[in-house]
Amino acid sequence: MKRNLTKESVLAILKDNSTRYISGEEIAERLFITRSAVWKSIKTLREDGMQIEAISNKGYRLVDEIDGISSIGIKAKLSEECKDIAIKCYETVESTNDIANEWGRLGIQEECVVVAQEQTKGRGRRGREFYSPKDTGLYMSLCLFPETDAKSATLLTCVTAVAVCRALVETTSINPEIKWVNDIFYNDRKIAGILTEAVTSIEDGSLSYMVIGIGINLYDPIKGFPDAIKKIAGSVYSKGGIKDNMRNELAASIVSNFMRIYREDWSQIIDEYRKKSFLIGKTVIVHPAGRIDINKDNMYAKAIAIDDECHLVVEYENGKVEALSTGEVSVVKY
Ligand code: BTN
Repeated sequence: MKRNLTKESVLAILKDNSTRYISGEEIAERLFITRSAVWKSIKTLREDGMQIEAISNKGYRLVDEIDGISSIGIKAKLSEECKDIAIKCYETVESTNDIANEWGRLGIQEECVVVAQEQTKGRGRRGREFYSPKDTGLYMSLCLFPETDAKSATLLTCVTAVAVCRALVETTSINPEIKWVNDIFYNDRKIAGILTEAVTSIEDGSLSYMVIGIGINLYDPIKGFPDAIKKIAGSVYSKGGIKDNMRNELAASIVSNFMRIYREDWSQIIDEYRKKSFLIGKTVIVHPAGRIDINKDNMYAKAIAIDDECHLVVEYENGKVEALSTGEVSVVKY
């Protein structure tokens, strides 16, 4: 992707002058460009997620937001091989997966990452809502065009879980674990979830594109998590504190780690996935696909392995062994 040098120069001036308003005229004069070119740059910077205040007769000011997201901030932290990936940042969206799906439908066949600071209709698995308030999390979706069938592509969920764990270790001080199939836990609390959506062609059933959505709770919500999830949900910085540039760094590290695995041999990732998983040896309740009702239709089993296709192998009380590919399990606590 081509660099926009005018936009970068406008941003540099705004950063140097963040304690005052600077007029479009002054920026134009300093850069030897027109005021309309300044305005266009301001517009694209805002689309990149930068918060720029504008007051008539005064000018522009870059709002210094602690731990805000911006595509420039993310790009600055991306590994060299990922610098050409399209990054789209938003303050508030309904769901980053929706925007990534729109990108996939365009059929450009170029990877794209959509990042938001807030979602008003964040989706979780099995039709559940994913609580995504501003100032709490990092919500992002990757749109990919893997050259494989939908079945093999399911392994990308495991690749994502591993990439998120690596990124959290790299950018924070925590050591998270994976709960099959794609929840990330820390201190016995779910701090992140992954939602994978695949779109296949009706003509030949081939995979058209894939969207992988990742939601991470970085900070506890100001009023706490809602009742429905407060017993299970947690955050990376549950003990408080807000880290400057955390979201940009974490998003970049997730993309860099994911792409490093994705562009090489992702079938090799399963050993790392197993090492990070905490279910093996635990007694679990297996919830049949499509429902999560702890009182009915569930069965007790022991989680005994994760196979090479990332299925959870469980042994029921009657000795029957099954490799679960979908559905959900919850850990029995004694
Ligand atoms: C789950 O735990 O059930 C999966 C949660 C996935 C949430 C992420 S947040 C970014 C992306 N956009 C969505 O609407 N959902 C995913």
